[in-house]
Amino acid sequence: MNFQLTEEHLAVQEAAREFAQSELLPGVIDRDSEAKFPHEQIKKMGDLGFLGMMVDPKYNGGGMDTISYVIAMEELSKIDASASVSMSVNNSLVCWGLEKYGSEEQKQKYLTRLATGEILGAFCLSEPEAGSDATSQRTSAEWNGDHYVLNGTKNWITNGSTASVYLVIAQTDASKGHKGISVFLVEKGWEGFVIGKKEDKLGIRGSDTHSLMFTDVKVPAENRIGEEGFGFTFAMETLNGGRIGIAAQALGIASGAYELALAYSKERKAFGKPISQHQAIQFKLADMATQIEAARLLVYKAAWLKDQGEDYAHASAMAKLYASEVAMNVTVEAVQVHGGYGYVKEYHVERLMRDAKITQIYEGTSEIQRIVISRGILK
Ligand code: CAA
Repeated sequence: MNFQLTEEHLAVQEAAREFAQSELLPGVIDRDSEAKFPHEQIKKMGDLGFLGMMVDPKYNGGGMDTISYVIAMEELSKIDASASVSMSVNNSLVCWGLEKYGSEEQKQKYLTRLATGEILGAFCLSEPEAGSDATSQRTSAEWNGDHYVLNGTKNWITNGSTASVYLVIAQTDASKGHKGISVFLVEKGWEGFVIGKKEDKLGIRGSDTHSLMFTDVKVPAENRIGEEGFGFTFAMETLNGGRIGIAAQALGIASGAYELALAYSKERKAFGKPISQHQAIQFKLADMATQIEAARLLVYKAAWLKDQGEDYAHASAMAKLYASEVAMNVTVEAVQVHGGYGYVKEYHVERLMRDAKITQIYEGTSEIQRIVISRGILK
């Protein structure tokens, strides 16, 4: 067992850290306050290869392993979790599924552009009445002899208005339950496809979250991924990998808040000495550091299993469950270490605390992760 990062991993970490400091940090407070999508920053992330890190170079990707991806996700999420969620969705929910299960034609048409960030992708599973209960899809795609006719509403879609291509999960045969669900590539601008309201969120406010409405949208047969009925398995497998990305995001939010709290504790004096010299603060820092280290080991383990071609479904759920709880605990404690300063925007930790909450909700709530983990244990 080797706990050391390779030269390549260290180079990715350095590049991501540098980018986060120089490009994401300036303006992050304003983007959060104004709920402004980081267009310019995402464009640069594409240019640097962060949006298609694991995609085969023959489709314009970086050809990197999942460990490199989680390292970059952690570094960028320390500073701006709104930018990193776009990156996570594009890499692990859109590019991965398309590369693994798409046709050569679909890959040439869409993946080659998604991998460079020329266009962004979105993953559309959640519905007003099908969040955790993903089998209860109401969106339907009916075959009319020439093309599919898509109808329905999707909710909480990351990259909702900024994406150009959407992976839409829909029922093609309601009588077959989850085996009657299929997945389609839908382009922005197709007739009947309307981007609905933008959500005004507690955290990750710079990210672009929308509802989407489909009314009699014509979808050509060649835009179905895999066979009819494959959509639920596609979504579940894609989410297994997506959860590693979100676990890394949660890890980054936690470590970003911890690093700020540690630095602040060395500067801030109370009762005649830096607060880091008070045991009350030392115990908090010790707990934060320990939780973060444990979360990092779970995240790296899940990424490593994926890279080895092993089953990683329950490892990724464990990583996401634990890292998101750590993100919540650590950010709350980081605000506490900062005292009154922690409660105001310019110290960053209040934003990280708000951002942390979503990691316990999206790509499956903590309760869903426990279901996936217990099924893995009991099978
Ligand atoms: N990996 C692979 N396959 C899986 C799986 C997994 N993790 N979980 C279930 N499956 C398979 C099962 O093996 C089964 O296959 P067969 O029929 O071939 O045997 C099939 O899926 C149905 O499984 P279940 O009977 O277990 O299904 P269920 O209805 O009990 O639900 C669930 C399972 C785990 C709760 C699932 O519905 C789920 O994961 N729900 C959460 C959905 C979710 O994460 N939504 C997030 C939206 S995306 C998002 O947030 C993106 C964003 O924008 C940031």
